[in-house]
Amino acid sequence: PALAERVRAVVAAHRDERGALLPILHDIQGEFGYIDREVVGLLAAELNLSRAEVHGVISFYADFRTEPAGRTRLRLCRAEACQSVGAEDLLAHAQQVLGIKAGQTTPDGSVSLDEVFCLGNCALGPAGQLNGRLHGRLDRARLDDLLATETA
Ligand code: FES
Repeated sequence: PALAERVRAVVAAHRDERGALLPILHDIQGEFGYIDREVVGLLAAELNLSRAEVHGVISFYADFRTEPAGRTRLRLCRAEACQSVGAEDLLAHAQQVLGIKAGQTTPDGSVSLDEVFCLGNCALGPAGQLNGRLHGRLDRARLDDLLATETA
């Protein structure tokens, strides 16, 4: 029931948007770390879509995860303000050190990496979130330190 309630709340927040499914899926993955099978059915019912349509969108975009996330969750902002101060480089670095792409989890299950579109911390970009905690003015070295501390 908790899951269904959260899904309905997310849908309600986006209902009037054109192409609401994508932002809804982003929000759900942001909150739960992945999109559970059960969510597909809930969304289909809420949005009057078929399960196949919802599933099609999830599998089309590589950044949606359908399995639980890693123990440490790193989310890096790729929206405009952060992009202008080096977010792309930071994401590339994170992908390289972790050996995964955004939307994936390291094979040992320790870290998941996600890109997000604005964390509301635009003045202090590049912004990121590590296990729910917001960090600003990230650079490669600070990110390495944070990851080392968090996964130690
Ligand atoms: Fe990155 Fe807003 S653009 S936090």
